[in-house]
Amino acid sequence: MRKILLIGNGAREHALAEALINSKHQVELYAFGQAINPGIKQLSIQYKVGSSSDFEAISAFASEVSPDFVVIGPDDPIGQGLGDFLLQHNNLRSVAPLKITAQLETSKAFTRELMAKYQIPGLPKFKVFHNADGISAFLADELGGNFVIKYDGLLGGKGVKLSGEHLPDINAGVAFAEECLADCDRVVIEEKLVGQEFSLLALADGENLYTFPAVQDHKRAYNGDEGPNTGGMGTYSDSDGSLPFLEANDLQDARQINQQILKAVKTETGTPFTGVLYGGFMVTSNGVRVIEYNARFGDPEAMNLLNLLKDDFVELCEAILAGDLNKFPAEFTKQATVCVYAVPKGYPENPQKGAIIKLNKGDYPAKVYFASVNLLNETDAYYELEMSGSRAIAFVGMGATIEEAREQALTGLGQIEGPIEYRTDIGSGAILQAKIKMMQNLRNS
Ligand code: AMP
Ligand code: GLY
Repeated sequence: MRKILLIGNGAREHALAEALINSKHQVELYAFGQAINPGIKQLSIQYKVGSSSDFEAISAFASEVSPDFVVIGPDDPIGQGLGDFLLQHNNLRSVAPLKITAQLETSKAFTRELMAKYQIPGLPKFKVFHNADGISAFLADELGGNFVIKYDGLLGGKGVKLSGEHLPDINAGVAFAEECLADCDRVVIEEKLVGQEFSLLALADGENLYTFPAVQDHKRAYNGDEGPNTGGMGTYSDSDGSLPFLEANDLQDARQINQQILKAVKTETGTPFTGVLYGGFMVTSNGVRVIEYNARFGDPEAMNLLNLLKDDFVELCEAILAGDLNKFPAEFTKQATVCVYAVPKGYPENPQKGAIIKLNKGDYPAKVYFASVNLLNETDAYYELEMSGSRAIAFVGMGATIEEAREQALTGLGQIEGPIEYRTDIGSGAILQAKIKMMQNLRNS
């Protein structure tokens, strides 16, 4: 029997809870989250509500429960060092990197400088500035006016702004860079790349990677990749583990970069990276480039990938902690997956908070993962849920093709009565063709 403590209350953590409970070993699941996730609640034997940055409360709950290990889902507690805290105070290990190695996600300057120092391929032209001297010349002369400015404070604050989209000219770029500098002591500026983004995630035990199929997320709120950025409106993966617009060597290059990053982090910090290594890449006319690293499962990527596991997820977590992930062949179910999020109307800028929806239970093929919803009432026929303003429910379809998986996911969205929005184009044939064509044109240019 395994006792496992899971931290976090989103759809990603609902998928993690399911993967843990589906183990062939008997699992007692304990949950700690900022709000009650109805899906996790059903799967756990005790559920504690509290802030994920209240390490004392989490440590006290862990003392009570005495789990074999902890699984930490969200980025904030990982970046703030919850893994370190539980190790020091409870002598308890977490499936999550320690704070020093989670800098891969929490500091964009750390990651860019690491890539430069260890000569890791896929590095865009970049510079870290600590004051405004030379920014204007760098934007104009080195980057030819095509630039991205990245706020590098711990809390993600001002985010990432791109020339052409958010920053009309060099002056606007300099002004935003100065705003970032006023807030924290550095800003990362890099060349603006053109291509298709994809995520390549892997479990990491410090030395070995267990690499999942590639996934593509859709960050923009509306169909056709229009509108404001969100946490991710939906994702798809293909049955062959690749994506329709990728060539075989793109995936190999991304895998190789992840492997080199893993090694460099250990050399640089003296600490092995254990947990989930999430490479955010863009394939461009010049090959694969790194956009960012995260130190956790993606949301929604986790819902695609955990559904493709053939190996036992509890055993994989134990292998992350034991350092023997290489004993698994990392083979996955040969199916395509599509995950689509239902969100409140007005999301992300003016979401209708507190709106009530009904989700029919019925017999439809989509899998359901709850996110920002409170359960008001449950009958044999439906759930009555209140949406709290963020992404509400994720639906996952699986099938022989992406189109089939998409149709399955959409059967779930059709079961909601109430004021929701969602993207209907995730994984659609027309969009996939447009992405393939875009990459063909770029590669031939
Ligand atoms: P990040 O927080 O670094 O992932 O950036 C957020 C988003 O900004 C990414 O998902 C990309 O769409 C975009 N982005 C970041 N860096 C670049 C870059 N160098 N070139 C083009 N787009 C970028
Ligand atoms: N799907 C994007 C993220 O989890 O960061």
